[in-house]
Amino acid sequence: MGRSAVPRHFLAIDDLSAAEFEAVLDGAAAFERQLEGGERHAVLPERTLGMVFEKPSTRTRVSFETGMTQLGGHAIFLGPDDVGLGEREPLRDTARTLSRYVDCIVARLFDHAALDELAAHASVPVINGLTDDAHPCQALADLLTIREHAGFDASVAWIGDGNNVARSFALGAARVGLDCTVATPPGYGLGGDVLERAGEIGTAPATTDDPRAAAAGADVVYTDVWVSMGEEDDRERKRAAFEAGGFQVNEALLDPGTAVMHCLPARRGGEITDEILESERSLAFEQAENRLHTGKGLLAVLLGAL
Ligand code: CP
Ligand code: NVA
Repeated sequence: MGRSAVPRHFLAIDDLSAAEFEAVLDGAAAFERQLEGGERHAVLPERTLGMVFEKPSTRTRVSFETGMTQLGGHAIFLGPDDVGLGEREPLRDTARTLSRYVDCIVARLFDHAALDELAAHASVPVINGLTDDAHPCQALADLLTIREHAGFDASVAWIGDGNNVARSFALGAARVGLDCTVATPPGYGLGGDVLERAGEIGTAPATTDDPRAAAAGADVVYTDVWVSMGEEDDRERKRAAFEAGGFQVNEALLDPGTAVMHCLPARRGGEITDEILESERSLAFEQAENRLHTGKGLLAVLLGAL
């Protein structure tokens, strides 16, 4: 049986309209309350999620697998040695075959163009579980965390690399109207068309190469590793640039009331100190928890259960 309707993919933040974005966050908050209250919320019975992962993962993998169980469905994890993506058979064949079995695919790939190709040939929704370019599922959890902790009137400073997490966060901030400043060292900015796209869906973030100016007065400071998965060969050069620019999130950089976010995994002593990550300021584990709730909200919206 072929599936003919055009599927709704979530490859980037701007794939969701403002209303859909709100539906995902509201759905996530409802699932969170139901989970806390011990209420069943199996809105995706007998549905299956295929999970194609080329890179390691703790939060993305476990939150989607657990989320599918809680929604009454099932998830199948396919690591690098399982499908042999693009090697054992062409990517488009993997996409078409999986689409005959599963109801949705989450893919964590290096190359964003490969994700686009997977989605182009899939007849079920494809979710971006992180590529070198974007991590939109993380941004959903980040924005739920900010909504719960400070509300969307808060001001947020991204301090660090203009990487996949930063790009999706900048777009998500624009989507919900958050006051956002992005501080990156010269040469490590958001790149591509992110500022332009942010401007199309809301207000593009301000940008600077001065971490102190960005952190001053911010309600929330957000950071991520300086060296992302796949960039290991560039470690020393990046580390030197970020250290020289004063991009470590530490006590000296922060105003007294500023909260701190990190998508995890963190490199303590690199982009953030152990002291800050372990402090009361840190929302990192709220963000990690919210990956579960927002992943479920996203699945429910894309699969028509919300
Ligand atoms: N934040 C995040 O995506 O974590 P994992 O790499 O562990 O999935
Ligand atoms: N920027 C990091 C995020 C990990 C969740 C990476 O791509 O490795």
